[in-house]
Amino acid sequence: MRKKIVAGNWKMNKTFEEAEDLVYEIADGIESMSLDDTEIIVCPPYVFLELTSDAVNDKKLKIGAQNVHHERSGSYTGEVSAAMLQSMDIKYVIVGHSERRKYFHESGEMLFQKVRIAREHELTPIFCCGEQLEDRKSGKHFDVVKAQLEETVFRLDEEHFARVIIAYEPVWAIGTGETASPEQAQEMHACIRDLIGKAYTDQTAADTTILYGGSCNPGNAASLFNNPDVDGGLIGGASLKSADFLEIIKHRLNT
Ligand code: PGA
Repeated sequence: MRKKIVAGNWKMNKTFEEAEDLVYEIADGIESMSLDDTEIIVCPPYVFLELTSDAVNDKKLKIGAQNVHHERSGSYTGEVSAAMLQSMDIKYVIVGHSERRKYFHESGEMLFQKVRIAREHELTPIFCCGEQLEDRKSGKHFDVVKAQLEETVFRLDEEHFARVIIAYEPVWAIGTGETASPEQAQEMHACIRDLIGKAYTDQTAADTTILYGGSCNPGNAASLFNNPDVDGGLIGGASLKSADFLEIIKHRLNT
């Protein structure tokens, strides 16, 4: 049985006090909810991982990192390794976000190294894929996403792939207020599940959690989550306000 997940990506936002307030508001907000098979994760900036991990100790909320370096250790000033995250008991890490691909020039090969090293350290990658607007306009969106998966996560053994969460995030919908329609999301998620079935097995495809990300908010979450292949969301802007994030979680629990 695959899990439903709502994950928040705080990106480069919040100060120490703001992060503390937000994580407590979310952790306390979900405490009384009956989550069943739904997992709630927040991914704060690295510098707040310890603060937020301490805050959620013994609570239902889980903490993930926004990135991990593609080498195991060494002279990479300013970077953070998978072993460091593992040693802090972090279980999730976002890999392949379009902002990292664009601003930090992360290539397919580098992203493969990241997911491989993450899995070596018991981290669950939340692997992002998604097309640019030009790709969609020219009808290449399925091919682009297929290539992104083939050059990265599909190179993992089935045992490791089975621990990967996929996040479909059309680049044109990230932070733009423009969301993929429920039909566009379902169509791409079904395509991704089909590709997983071909790369591995139907069982693995059925068990893989596929999240939608890109301007998901309390107003559109229910219609997105109400699709058979949309298992939840990776939420950026709307995860920065506890009321909005909790509202989105409620939509996941009720659809
Ligand atoms: P957004 O970001 O919800 O602000 O569009 C989503 C993401 O980048 O993961």
